[in-house]
Amino acid sequence: MERTLVLIKPDGVRRNIIGEVISRIERRGLKIVAMDLRTLDADTAKTHYEEHAQRPFFDSLVEFITGGPLVAMVVEGERAVEAFRALAGATDPVSASPGTIRGDFALEVQQNIVHGSDSTYSAEREIKLFFPDLAA
Ligand code: CMP
Repeated sequence: MERTLVLIKPDGVRRNIIGEVISRIERRGLKIVAMDLRTLDADTAKTHYEEHAQRPFFDSLVEFITGGPLVAMVVEGERAVEAFRALAGATDPVSASPGTIRGDFALEVQQNIVHGSDSTYSAEREIKLFFPDLAA
């Protein structure tokens, strides 16, 4: 069974839509196997987003993602990586289809409510970072 790391980012927590996001994950048939509300420190945030380190938005992204509590989850199911990314919608919420999490709740590319691992390789790395006790 495949696993993916999902974050409900600080904007999602601030807007009180944790339940809405969890409900969509569960309704789809995916299973939450670990979950934690926490505020990230800068080092963890930089490691999590290391592939974006050279992008002009990197510092602002780290500031945003560490700026308040987020919900980190490990979500499990059939092709969980792809299944959650389909639920989340396109990274840029303006391009995200209505009916997706981003397409229904966001307009800004940085404050796009959720993160989901983009591959099984990233999922393994990210799960290890957020839930070291759980990693295979
Ligand atoms: P996420 O799926 O968590 O992966 C990288 C994050 O960087 C992305 O969601 C957005 O929050 C953010 N991001 C991507 N592109 C931009 C951009 N052009 N400007 C600001 N933030 C961005």
